[in-house]
Amino acid sequence: MDTAEIRRRFTAHFERAGHTAVPSASLLLDDPNLLFVNAGMVPFKPYFLGQETPPYDRAVSVQKCVRTPDIEDVGKTTRHGTFFEMCGNFSFGDYFKEGAIELGWDLVTRSIEDGGFGLAEDRLYPSVLAGDDEALELWQKVTGFPEHRIVKLGPKENYWSMGVPGPGGPCSEILYDRGPAHGPEADWEAMGTAMDPALEDRYLEIWNLVFMQDELSAVRSKEDFDIAGSLPKKNIDTGMGLERVAYLLQGRQNMYEIDVMFPVIEKAMELTGRRYGAGGEQGHTDDVRFRVVADHVRSSMMLISDGVTPGNEARGYVLRRLLRRAVRSMRLLGYEDRALPELLPISRDKMAETYTDLHRDWDRISAVAYAEEDAFRQTLRAGTAIFDLATTEVKQSGGSQLSGAKAFSLHDTYGFPIDLTLEMAGEQGLSVDEEGFRRLMTEQRDRAKADARAKKGQHRDATAYREVADGLGRPVEFTGYGEVVTEGSVRGIVTPSGTVESAREGDEIELVLDRTPFYAEGGGQLADQGVIELGNGARVEVRDVQSPITGLIVHQAVVVSGEVTLGVDAHSVVDVARRRSISRSHTATHMVHKAFREALGDTATQAGSENSPGRFRFDFSATGAVPASVMADVEARVNDLVLDDLAVHAEIMTQEEAVKSGAMALFGEKYGDEVRVISVGDWARELCGGTHAPRSGQLGVIKLLGESSIGSGVRRVEALVGNDAYRFLAREHVLVAQLSEALKVPSEQLPERVHDIVDRLRAAEKEIEKVRVQQLLGTGAEIADRAADVAGARVVAHRADGAGGGDVRQLALDVRGRLPAGQPGVVVVIGTADDKVSVVAAVNDAARERGLSANALVGTIGPLVGGRGGGKDDLAQGGGSDASRVDEALALVGSEVGRALGA
Ligand code: SER
Repeated sequence: MDTAEIRRRFTAHFERAGHTAVPSASLLLDDPNLLFVNAGMVPFKPYFLGQETPPYDRAVSVQKCVRTPDIEDVGKTTRHGTFFEMCGNFSFGDYFKEGAIELGWDLVTRSIEDGGFGLAEDRLYPSVLAGDDEALELWQKVTGFPEHRIVKLGPKENYWSMGVPGPGGPCSEILYDRGPAHGPEADWEAMGTAMDPALEDRYLEIWNLVFMQDELSAVRSKEDFDIAGSLPKKNIDTGMGLERVAYLLQGRQNMYEIDVMFPVIEKAMELTGRRYGAGGEQGHTDDVRFRVVADHVRSSMMLISDGVTPGNEARGYVLRRLLRRAVRSMRLLGYEDRALPELLPISRDKMAETYTDLHRDWDRISAVAYAEEDAFRQTLRAGTAIFDLATTEVKQSGGSQLSGAKAFSLHDTYGFPIDLTLEMAGEQGLSVDEEGFRRLMTEQRDRAKADARAKKGQHRDATAYREVADGLGRPVEFTGYGEVVTEGSVRGIVTPSGTVESAREGDEIELVLDRTPFYAEGGGQLADQGVIELGNGARVEVRDVQSPITGLIVHQAVVVSGEVTLGVDAHSVVDVARRRSISRSHTATHMVHKAFREALGDTATQAGSENSPGRFRFDFSATGAVPASVMADVEARVNDLVLDDLAVHAEIMTQEEAVKSGAMALFGEKYGDEVRVISVGDWARELCGGTHAPRSGQLGVIKLLGESSIGSGVRRVEALVGNDAYRFLAREHVLVAQLSEALKVPSEQLPERVHDIVDRLRAAEKEIEKVRVQQLLGTGAEIADRAADVAGARVVAHRADGAGGGDVRQLALDVRGRLPAGQPGVVVVIGTADDKVSVVAAVNDAARERGLSANALVGTIGPLVGGRGGGKDDLAQGGGSDASRVDEALALVGSEVGRALGA
């Protein structure tokens, strides 16, 4: 049964049972605790917590999920995929344990002809949380199994939470026995209540039914958590692994071999010429790599599709790792060409049957992925050069091991993965100090964790906010789209130690009102600032505004006078100049975004922005530098549209309507959500929760300052708007005027004039250099004349202050050439320039015949000036840094020559 059919049957089964089919949400739902949606229930979390009223009592979905904590296990076990799809049925205060068990059991055991999955009952083992007698009895009732056929497990397996504060509850899993080929037979009684890892491959968990009833306030581990209380209602959240059921029903060995994934492995086989499932040790290693490729290619594609771009932090870093691991696995399989252009389209063709956006948005998705592969290939090239240098050094010094520090720096600086280092070192017959490498990695990770902890400390834990939100009973009303002054009242005061009833002059507090015109930072727009005057005469200065949990707007403020108390009236006044300036930036960002898309195509999608007073920053996907001509065109285009004075308006519509109207940037929205669409004229249309200038004319001027790369495939443009743009241009004008005055040419001739000056300067420098060398060499004859006689040899020891390495060498050779050829001649010149000491020794043939060596001389003299060097017998050169002992070093020359000649 193919994956699409399993998905259809799952949805149809629950639709028949009164569930509303809800499409998958984006992987990037806005939840501060989650990097990615990692379970089918995530989009429904507010319903479970009672924060929002669900529009249905029963829902069914097939949700895209990404889990990355066990990225290293991918391909090694049969079950770990970073991207997977979770089929789930949900009850919000409707049916509970009995309904969930009946519905689930019915679907898995119902015959294939009859629309079910047709799994044999004698292969199935339901499990319950040890002590959940209600579930135990229900399972016996529904399945007709004796008690011993139901497995009892501890909280590690059978209590489910999100791993962070939120909803949770006891659960039941349905395990499927894949037979003796996959492990030993279970003796459940003997095992106790902790699942034996040796059994996990054979007794495959296919479905988890969570009896969602608790609200957790802290989660320290799977078994160690605090239950703060009961959820307002008892709910059901289930998750059936689509890939797991698919591989059972398709008779395959693991999730990587199912219909929507295996074609990528087949393509990889074709490209690498290696065979999947070839057997033997190498075969096993290769199989893992093939699976990594299949998994990571698919996960990366799905992440990019939902708006992630490769980067060095958070989501972007996960994506980068996935893409690079896929590319690297292909290389380890022996394929060195660009792999993603071959593999990604295969994955797309399989996944686009369900996720049609993959086709629609293909240009952008593929451009982002391919650019990252190219960047990584470059990294590998640079790293390989460093690697080669390091191995040569090790070999030359007679060693056989690459140090942990070197492996770490390759990894840290060049993104060179350790297994690649290991493999390449192996090829060179070297080992790697892996332990040292791991120690440095751990140290780095600890540093990063400490940093993260320090950062987290700035935010209060969400409990205090939740308390205020609960007290409020409804979301804070944001009035700032329409007004900048609003009447409201104080509804919450939060301090580092929690919620308080009042605050005094000088206190730094976080203030919550029932209504506020203050915009909380979000969507790339900076927060408003301003003041809040209270009914009792107190006054508060607002410095920042954030929305730490949905529905709450928190003013970070200082009490400048009086006392702030709960319930008192609040007269909020936004700093209008700042707000207007930020709004202008925000509107300008939309315009520039649109203009770039016009110029570069739809792949130029926004990847982040920051709108601050008078300036903005805008990041977007592009495969290479944006040509200066495009920058100029975009700037001209938006400034034209500023003059057109387009009206800017906001509309609320459903997500589907927004798509139809051609609005951009739909990442992270839930299907069915109402969205706010901002249009600049009929031209730029974009989903946005920010504030804007009412007309484009108010923007005045938009000045693009430049563009640069901020990571593979992402460019950053910085720009000024309005007054700031004007002031910038005015300043530039003054500068140009000053230059024009100083150089005595009209401004349009400045570039030519400056070129001219630079050229003349270069020519003059060359001329000076020539004269200097001539002068230096002009002293050669005189120096040669002053040669001393040491045991029949002509010996010159000369100090040349101001001469660098090249000059010293030339001088030494010149002098040597002037010494009589038939007589042994030795020249040592030491130059000093720019804190550097250069030593050159030159010896003629007659001297060499007498056993004198330039190399030996430099070896003896060099250390005196704090350096070393070497060369050949006739000419040697060294460098040092200690100019204080130059004379001493020169004095040594004569005695060294004398010693060598046996005088
Ligand atoms: N939330 C549960 C899980 O992720 C069931 O959907 O396993």
